[in-house]
Amino acid sequence: MHDRSRVRRIRRAALAVGAAVLTAGAALAIAGPAAAATQGPCDIYASGGTPCVAAHSTTRALYGSYNGSLYQVKRSSDSATLNIGVLSAGGYANAAAQDSFCANTTCVITVIYDQSGRGNNLTQGSGYWSGPAEGGKDDLAFANAVPVTVGGHKAYGVYIAPGTGYRNNSTNGIATGDQPEGMYAIFNGTHSNSGCCFDYGNAETSGNDTGNGHMEAIYFGTSKDWGYGTGNGPWIMADLENGLFSGVNRGYNANDPTISYRFTTAIVKGEPNHWSIRGGNAQSGSLSTFYNGVRPTVSGYNPMSKEGAIILGVGGDNSNASAGTFYEGVMTSGYPSDATENSVQANIVAAAYGTYGLSGLTAGSRISLRATTACCTSDYIQHDDSDTAVVISPVSSSSSATTKADATWIVRAGLANSYCVSFESANNSGQYLRHSGFKLYLNASDGSSLFNNDATFCPHPGVNGQGYSFPSLNYSDHYIRHYNYTLYAATDRGTNAWDSATLWTDDVSWVVTSPWA
Ligand code: AHR
Repeated sequence: MHDRSRVRRIRRAALAVGAAVLTAGAALAIAGPAAAATQGPCDIYASGGTPCVAAHSTTRALYGSYNGSLYQVKRSSDSATLNIGVLSAGGYANAAAQDSFCANTTCVITVIYDQSGRGNNLTQGSGYWSGPAEGGKDDLAFANAVPVTVGGHKAYGVYIAPGTGYRNNSTNGIATGDQPEGMYAIFNGTHSNSGCCFDYGNAETSGNDTGNGHMEAIYFGTSKDWGYGTGNGPWIMADLENGLFSGVNRGYNANDPTISYRFTTAIVKGEPNHWSIRGGNAQSGSLSTFYNGVRPTVSGYNPMSKEGAIILGVGGDNSNASAGTFYEGVMTSGYPSDATENSVQANIVAAAYGTYGLSGLTAGSRISLRATTACCTSDYIQHDDSDTAVVISPVSSSSSATTKADATWIVRAGLANSYCVSFESANNSGQYLRHSGFKLYLNASDGSSLFNNDATFCPHPGVNGQGYSFPSLNYSDHYIRHYNYTLYAATDRGTNAWDSATLWTDDVSWVVTSPWA
């Protein structure tokens, strides 16, 4: 049994003989050609007579000829910005430029450029009642949070944790009033929550709820506050303001299924007294139609009063309690035909989205996790033997066998989501790292859904540029963090002492090393 207070008293500098660092990079699929198909989704929409009036993607060009910037990142070390473009016209994002610019610092996505030529860029949203940390504005997404492959090339999506949001209240060419429009987006079907409202699409230009029918956006998530479909969600619904619609009216609509493909294509489109929900697997197959019919019969939705702002990751009134991941999406002028959308789906499938493997974190491997904060680079995550707390303490080659085992973890496929991970203790079989009340504990699994969710973390490259960070599956803005040598699930704001912004990016970044035991 190790004595935590004694160990802390003898904290010392980095040890000469430490655990070997496992590469924090990733196993990347063999890259295909730098250029994608000669046609992008927006070429297909244009051929169908419903051209894109907004086209956003951090992963690829959405026109066969697009050769401009996809998005802009800003790094914390010197506040410099860099536009990330494509590898070639019509091709994939130049993720290597971001990796080089953001090495060993924190980068956020500041602009998602509109590829349609209309200047409908998305920038930091205006914030809501939860009091975002960044000067009353929404948070900006960590630029390295969601690596993927597209056509074998590394690219990054947009990670919307609660509090994060993008908006444009002064657009050009977006539908207003009852004008027809279409939208699609690709989301991570395994990252969502029930907070209001992970949306992409048309919203109020004031940033306020101005009444029924003033929005028309794709919603993706598990909210049952207004509407829902079969199963437990997530569902694709239409956010038409003061209502997430899974069918003709609020409440339960049996034709809207739970849809949770790792890469999910989601579609909402509307024209006078007619609208539709469609969706499918962005990696294979075709689209299904989940609703195709008249406008809600409740007052205010027919005719619609669309205002033409664009939102990403928030509700029309900028409610920002939602979570999700966005890779690409467009808005059109005119109501696209199903045939046009089917061709767009074929283009999406051909683009070949794939997961980006995080090396060192494969299920079954034994690892140790070393802190990266300057105070603590000899410290490893380990559990107490005297209680169920989880702490950081130094480990060295001369540590006891028990201490080494306490600091060793077996990576398991996430108990609640196999795309994520859980950490089982190496010397307490069947006991997992889990949060409860936003503190971390080592607890035996009781097999409950709550336990499985509390014990699942979705790793991404470390937000300080080192190792990995581990947001919780069910609270995706709460990351595994050390604070005063104890482990928490922490945000960088909030009322708990451990939610302090000071050193947060370092405290939530962990290097994966070879196991101590
Ligand atoms: O329609 C659902 C939500 O209701 C909208 O996104 C928001 O503006 C309001 O709170």
